[in-house]
Amino acid sequence: MQDGRRRPEGDLDQLAPEVFRPTMPEPNAPPPDPNGFIRSNTRLLTPPLVPEVRLHLAEESLPIWHKTEEELGESGLPPPYWAFAWAGGQALARYLLDIASLVAGRTILDIGSGSGLVAIAAVIAGARHAVANDIDAFALAACRLNAAENDVAIELSGVDLLQAAATSPPPPCDVLVLADLFYEKPLAAAALDLATRAVRAGTTVLVGDPCRSHFPADRFSRLVTYNVPVTRELEDSEIKATSVWKLAA
Ligand SMILES: C[S@@+](CC[C@H](N)C(=O)[O-])C[C@H]1O[C@@H](n2cnc3c(N)ncnc32)[C@H](O)[C@@H]1O
Repeated sequence: MQDGRRRPEGDLDQLAPEVFRPTMPEPNAPPPDPNGFIRSNTRLLTPPLVPEVRLHLAEESLPIWHKTEEELGESGLPPPYWAFAWAGGQALARYLLDIASLVAGRTILDIGSGSGLVAIAAVIAGARHAVANDIDAFALAACRLNAAENDVAIELSGVDLLQAAATSPPPPCDVLVLADLFYEKPLAAAALDLATRAVRAGTTVLVGDPCRSHFPADRFSRLVTYNVPVTRELEDSEIKATSVWKLAA
């Protein structure tokens, strides 16, 4: 590597600790032209398991990661998660499209939305309202562009709801969705805490996760498993067995 950065080989579990050390990053400052950046550095593609949805996606992680740092004039940023349709997101989006009654007419909150895939799929499946939440300003810009590309309306939220979870009531919604958020310990703990509070408040909590390192499978019921096509560059395999899970009340 020219700049000495380690190639993100292997599973997201190995990638994440490096980039989140020592603490979770602050939200990125919005780039001057996020839409132009996203359009120039991605292609419109369909995630293999969710061909109904078109997203601005990158085919390789390092070039867009470097360009993000150049664009913001910062180094040590987290990877551009928003530029990929992660295994958990693909599985959960597939499930919502196939079992549309889970979300039809309901309000959805997608925390760690990334590309917006799950929120967009929820609206296509008939959700009354969907909020895509992410702390990365690029992700929110990507969610906006991707929603427009699929002719759906979603609300965007950049509030760190996971930081607020310990002291605040869970955000009101009918269905809370979390896809591929259990790859890093503090993030996983905060996500589980919020999910637990939400389920106690009567919210349905659905998770897409391929059993990442910090996913507490014993707390969830498995609803379905898909063999999700992924890239070897990101996951160290071409297929990732990924389940949709429901948090028990
Ligand atoms: C691995 S990606 C998953 C994206 C998407 N859910 C999917 O499955 O394709 C994790 C996402 O969580 C976001 N994230 C990390 N910490 C967060 C927080 N505290 N609140 C909201 N989003 C967060 C990251 O910015 C990133 O977009």
